[in-house]
Amino acid sequence: MTTASTKAALDALRAHRAKTPSDMRAAFAADPGRFAAFSLGDGDLLLDWSKCAVDAETMRLLGEFATAAGVAARRDAMFSGQKINITENRAVLHTALRNPAGTSVLLDGIDVVPEVHAVLNAMRRFSDAVRDGSATGATGKKITDVVNIGIGGSDLGPVMATLALAPYHDGPRAHYVSNIDGAHMHDMLKGLSPETTLFIVASKTFTTVETMTNAETARNWIVAALGAAATGKHFAAVSTALDKVAAFGIAPERVFGFWDWVGGRYSLWSAIGLPIMIAIGADNFRAFLAGAHEMDRHFATRPLLENIPAVMGLVGFWHRVVCGYPARAVIPYDQRLARLPAYLQQLDMESNGKGVTLDGRAVATPTGPLVWGEPGTNGQHAFFQLLHQGTDIIPVEFLVAAQGHEPELKHHHDLLLANCLAQSEALMKGRTLDEAKSQMLAKGMKADEVDRIAPHRVFSGNRPSVTILYEKLDPRTLGRLIALYEHRVFVEGTLFDINSFDQWGVELGKELATALLPVVEGKKDAAGSDASTAGLVAHIRALRG
Ligand code: F6P
Repeated sequence: MTTASTKAALDALRAHRAKTPSDMRAAFAADPGRFAAFSLGDGDLLLDWSKCAVDAETMRLLGEFATAAGVAARRDAMFSGQKINITENRAVLHTALRNPAGTSVLLDGIDVVPEVHAVLNAMRRFSDAVRDGSATGATGKKITDVVNIGIGGSDLGPVMATLALAPYHDGPRAHYVSNIDGAHMHDMLKGLSPETTLFIVASKTFTTVETMTNAETARNWIVAALGAAATGKHFAAVSTALDKVAAFGIAPERVFGFWDWVGGRYSLWSAIGLPIMIAIGADNFRAFLAGAHEMDRHFATRPLLENIPAVMGLVGFWHRVVCGYPARAVIPYDQRLARLPAYLQQLDMESNGKGVTLDGRAVATPTGPLVWGEPGTNGQHAFFQLLHQGTDIIPVEFLVAAQGHEPELKHHHDLLLANCLAQSEALMKGRTLDEAKSQMLAKGMKADEVDRIAPHRVFSGNRPSVTILYEKLDPRTLGRLIALYEHRVFVEGTLFDINSFDQWGVELGKELATALLPVVEGKKDAAGSDASTAGLVAHIRALRG
């Protein structure tokens, strides 16, 4: 809620902006301790935000704003199972999914940790059986391919994590079908054999039209090849809606539940992670959970200005609200984190793309930024031009491991690291007109040519970036990174004074799609639709003949 103290703290931050370093080269030259002052570590994990235009007073004022906004109290409320998702009257307890056995988290007086571990144990039994070949297909053949059918939070997390942990993948091949576009399912099935394929239907609600449509197509494919009785051996499900799963025909021992206190975009730690567990094995999956739990403890216990997710959230707030930057780019220098930007788009933008405060008023400040990205170094050869010389300033988040998984390809990793460091340095330092000119003169260019070209070679510099550095992308580290981002989104959402845990903004499109289906099918006319929609429908019909 906007109070006199949040208003005063925000006014102080805005007033302070003019006094923050505007020349980052000078800021580094003037203060040899700048990196130490604006970086934080936890074991091998390091966050460096020293290339952002902040000073000690900025951080102090951000800390005051966080206190005024009640970040620590809301964090504690989340961890303790209070119903902070006020529009759905739900607790927000994805953190309990990674609590070790023997700890406890009470929700309405009931400890949820034993239930969490009961499901994890059931997942382990099932994934072990699929992996060791004791859970075969209907014809007795070992499962070689697992296809997860889900979308949004029931897809993006497992897709991202399966790719990220490829070096640990020793189970059946993992595939993901999400899009309602039949091309997705069609192209996937083309390379598979029904006898050796297991489908996991993953949907929190078990009503999502994409997932249910794809699940029916998959069931038809199995039935056509192996007969109706084969379905049971080729399907499993993950859902909170156990009644709906039963109606689909999946046997209870192949259904893995979770709870309404786990948001879709926070659910990869739950049974939604089943395809990850089948791919990498239960022990690696446990290490992934343990990494996330480590970050939970860090977030829950460290003072806010020594707290990596809190600082990332504060710096994000600074860039978005005080500096007015509209977007941020997430650039993992790790090919196996190629799907991290897509995963973070849902985590961040579905959580913090909101326009009303917790008490239902229009927000007075910007909320979540546009989040986008691609792995480096590929992005360097595509959109980095805009990051360096475009007219908008877009803070960048670099992620990189000190070591790869391929010691025999160390040279590749050295080049990867050098490029990552070079990009953040270039964004910060830029290149002045004088530097551009002397470089060209040194290459022997004529003076009039130098004058003509030099302005095009100027980089403004002073473009902020943070770097997240860690030893190696193993299951524990991936767990820490994803939990770090979850908590950062939480911190920003609290600073924005919004509910990060609902997603009403995606509902209207779903309702209208349901209404438009009979129109597209030609069973109903477009009367009542706006002229654009009616015109598009007419054109589709004409094209379809
Ligand atoms: O459309 C948004 C959404 O509700 C996401 O929040 C969720 O992750 C996704 O759809 C999938 O939902 P479900 O798991 O219920 O199929």
